[in-house]
Amino acid sequence: MVHRTRANAIRDRKGTRFATITAYDAAFGRAAEAAGIDVILVGDSLGNVVLGYESTVSVTMEDMERHGAAVVRGTQKAHVIVDMPFMSYEASDEEAVRNAGRLIRAGACSVKLEGGVDRAGRIAAIIRAGIPVMGHIGVGPQTAALSGGFKRRTDREHMLADADAVVAAGAYAVVLEMVDRSIAAEITARIPIPTIGIGAGPDCDAQILVLYDLLGLSAQAPPFVTPYADLAGAATDAMRRYAQDIVAGTYPGEGQPGAARKAV
Ligand code: KIV
Repeated sequence: MVHRTRANAIRDRKGTRFATITAYDAAFGRAAEAAGIDVILVGDSLGNVVLGYESTVSVTMEDMERHGAAVVRGTQKAHVIVDMPFMSYEASDEEAVRNAGRLIRAGACSVKLEGGVDRAGRIAAIIRAGIPVMGHIGVGPQTAALSGGFKRRTDREHMLADADAVVAAGAYAVVLEMVDRSIAAEITARIPIPTIGIGAGPDCDAQILVLYDLLGLSAQAPPFVTPYADLAGAATDAMRRYAQDIVAGTYPGEGQPGAARKAV
């Protein structure tokens, strides 16, 4: 039996550099694992890049369960983290624990939620229920979408307090999103769990990017992203050539199964 990477093993990577990535379906989960990435986040960025919403606020528990389960089916060894969507953990500890449990039942290895000092109690409650939690501080897209707060975080005291709170609550790792580079470096040196940066500079233990930004599939990627491919261009080109071949009558070609069937 193949075992998945566990949360404790990720915590033990503190001080070593590693890559993580988001994925939203079985095909890209499989591709991430084949690339040697064994920490995969089913982020609620799903809402923006796959479902076409303006923000992550529209993403539901059902969305996260369905796409989380798909990534789990496409992978064997990876640790699959599933994001808790907006309003699935804010109301009470009980609701947060119940919803984290739903994501675990769908196949998640752990869950992630946004917030620092303000959400430490929720993180602790979910961990008490036996579910590992990844924290997420700095820009939190769920609330930033409502307040227009997609600005780099430069409030050092606030950021350090959030990082300490997430650690004290028991998180095994923490995402730092758009945290000022020097503050992210200070947090990384200060806390005993891995920091996973996105737009937070190179000094974090790990990095994460939204897969569609990395592959050139997003309509608009943030400025800190270096695309490693142009899959949107490649897909458009393939579909254009396919459509042209059909119009020209050259697809299906002679000898191809489709052509043979037609001839029978
Ligand atoms: O939803 C997401 O993809 C995330 C990453 C940006 C960390 O939370």
